[in-house]
Amino acid sequence: MSGLPKTGIVAVIGAGAMGSGIAQVAAQAGHGVLLYDAMEGAAEKGRSGILAGLDKLVAKGKLPAQERDALAARITVAPSLDALAGAGLVVEAIVERLEVKRQVFAALEQIVTPDSILASNTSSLSITAIAAGLKHPERVAGLHFFNPAPVMKLVEIVAGLASDRAVLDTLFATAEAWGKVPVHATSTPGFIVNRVARPFYAEGLRLLEESAADVATLDAVMREAGGFRMGPFELMDLIGHDVNFAVTSSVFQSYFCDPRYRPSLTQQELVAAGWLGRKSGRGFYDYTTGAALSEP
Ligand code: NAI
Repeated sequence: MSGLPKTGIVAVIGAGAMGSGIAQVAAQAGHGVLLYDAMEGAAEKGRSGILAGLDKLVAKGKLPAQERDALAARITVAPSLDALAGAGLVVEAIVERLEVKRQVFAALEQIVTPDSILASNTSSLSITAIAAGLKHPERVAGLHFFNPAPVMKLVEIVAGLASDRAVLDTLFATAEAWGKVPVHATSTPGFIVNRVARPFYAEGLRLLEESAADVATLDAVMREAGGFRMGPFELMDLIGHDVNFAVTSSVFQSYFCDPRYRPSLTQQELVAAGWLGRKSGRGFYDYTTGAALSEP
């Protein structure tokens, strides 16, 4: 089983939290990376964010300055989707909405070469549905990283109904070559981790809505007694409430409105307010002061 050749260009679409992290991982593995985002200035911002993170590592003595420069030189901002034509692997990490992802894949199919692999970093959407309607659905698969992508080892390699075994094997080997721990999964709603994690968020939110305890207490209990690295609220703030709410809504819909997966009104309100968590400076916690927003 061999992965993408080291000389292969990796394109990343969507330069938010995940796309930037994935671009960094691919560049660290030696690939030339093209970073594209539909929002003006977002890809430049994503690239600057990666470089700022690398600068911190250099300052701490954890990364030689030369390596930082070489890595920076490997990441290029792509001005348009058309500029991704030479990519051997495209990883899509845009908004978690099926119809938008399908549009991007349909456009991509017209641009890339026939042997290019098209992967989605979707957290919950059906890979089968993303690939459906394409001329070559067999080259589409899920390549699901976790947040923050440069740190988290696990990567789910998600098979849609039409995914070619050779494509899945190449993605598996590529993730391994990138220092990750890949696992095969099928295209069930939320795949493995986001499915198992749904009750972690949902029950935390229910406890809060029932005034069982405040946000900071619930997080501290799960961290200190439960042994989790983060409590549910700080983790949702890291993921982003727009993303987390979209994932819960998609899993809920996919399981025919099974009440176990019912999205939370509290989280819906946070999304409506634009209080998306760390990325907007405010979520359950206020990142300008460090205080929990919800008190008992
Ligand atoms: P984000 O909101 O930080 O970034 C998304 C980026 O995609 C934005 O910069 C936006 O301008 C861009 N975008 C939106 N529509 C586009 C289009 N049509 N073409 C090109 N660019 C477009 O979102 P985040 O958190 O990076 O999530 C991206 C994807 O990764 C989603 O599918 C999400 O479910 C998945 N994911 C998120 C995780 C998380 O913890 N946030 C973890 C693992 C997967």
